Amino acid sequence: MARTMKLGLFWAAAGHHIAGWRHPSAEASANENLKFIQNMVKKAESGKFDLFFLGDALDSSAVAPPSDIVRFEPLTLLTAISTVTHHIGLIATASTTYSEPFHLARIFASLDHLSSGRAGWNIVTTSAARAALNFSQDVHLAHPQRYERAKEFVEVAKGLWDSWEEDTFIRNKATGQYLDTSKVHALEHKGKYFSVQGPLNVSRSPQGYPVLIQAGSSEDGQSFAADIAEIIFTAQNNLESAIEFYKSVKEKVRLAGRDPEAVKVMPGVVPIIGKTREEALSKYQKLQDLIHIEQALRIISAILGVDVSTFPLDELLPEFPETNGLKSRAQLVLNLARTKQLTVRELALEVAGSKGHHIMIGSAEEIADRLEEWFVQGGADGFNIMPPYFPGGIDDFVDLVVPILQSRGLFRTEYEGHTLRENLGLARPVNQFLGKQHA
Ligand SMILES: Cc1cc2nc3c(=O)[nH]c(=O)nc-3n(C[C@H](O)[C@H](O)[C@H](O)COP(=O)(O)O)c2cc1C
Repeated sequence: MARTMKLGLFWAAAGHHIAGWRHPSAEASANENLKFIQNMVKKAESGKFDLFFLGDALDSSAVAPPSDIVRFEPLTLLTAISTVTHHIGLIATASTTYSEPFHLARIFASLDHLSSGRAGWNIVTTSAARAALNFSQDVHLAHPQRYERAKEFVEVAKGLWDSWEEDTFIRNKATGQYLDTSKVHALEHKGKYFSVQGPLNVSRSPQGYPVLIQAGSSEDGQSFAADIAEIIFTAQNNLESAIEFYKSVKEKVRLAGRDPEAVKVMPGVVPIIGKTREEALSKYQKLQDLIHIEQALRIISAILGVDVSTFPLDELLPEFPETNGLKSRAQLVLNLARTKQLTVRELALEVAGSKGHHIMIGSAEEIADRLEEWFVQGGADGFNIMPPYFPGGIDDFVDLVVPILQSRGLFRTEYEGHTLRENLGLARPVNQFLGKQHA
């Protein structure tokens, strides 16, 4: 079968453009509006999207971007969404730095059961140091230790998901045998960060494991992704860097002894769609004009880990030392500043629109052309679509761009399977304890 692209809807309640919520047709109070969010996911499902993705953080502030100030806890929200959808994958972000493997393994296994096999986990180590202060800690774990902990965390979670073989539960009323005890596997893990007895108190879920996703692009992040990820989310703001990243990360997957084709690389794309290119450009400019510069400066300060408002606004970004934050996005923004020779103000405005993700501006035909180009030339296996505002941004994409991709044979017209793994063409993991007896 010809290779087809994967599509995800990356949710941001106030839109991915920082001023998106101010667009005249945008719903400005979507953060905690369940009906509205459910309708947006149903729209993506009507467009045969593979997945719906909820990013998350473990802190808030009154000056955070409007999508991030208040939001539902992802797994709780996805459970509510699972009841009104049937095919679309449901991806929650959850942090390995501020949770315990038993807790998360249990929640994801529950979502996988409740959604009949549509759960996915975006495994993050949490880049915002402020989160530590909400978890009784003064200091955020350093970058290499965060990834070391993440690796052990996922290993333990997998062990817990393998606690029960498929046919453990007999429930024979006549004999009184409820289960086959030889098919239960207590993990008895003792490692550097975790000590976990097991077994999990949820049975093996429809997908075996939720689909595992990773989104850190630093060296540590890529090597972690190479070991465990089945989907890699990334921010790439031009085709050349996307191809370079794609090649590099797939090679790392190969070196880790895994099949590169079984790992889907999905860069984020902010599509600004108009009837014509001119209309799309004017739509973009209108959104840009609505940005408050103070907010834009806060966004790049957070990405770069340095307060850029202290720099002269209309001069080039000065040099400064690397920080303990999200390394890869900081590098992306620095490269943008250096290659385009942007002033601090120009950089802030450009990045605020998309947080460094690629902005595609044009008619539906032109957007489809660009997506095809990235897909065919080896920059992506699919895309995380990041509408600048809701509902218009997802409506335009599903109604105008999806049919073009379908007519070109680049995207499905029907879901292939029932579970997210089946739709993505990913294997169901084999239980690591099959045939093994525990003492
Ligand atoms: C598309 C995309 C989405 C992400 N979503 C989240 C998120 O929701 N929460 C989070 O803490 N980090 C998120 N990240 C950040 C990464 O998971 C990672 O923690 C961060 O990039 C720091 O790791 P790095 O230095 O390896 O890049 C996202 C990154 C990308 C590319």
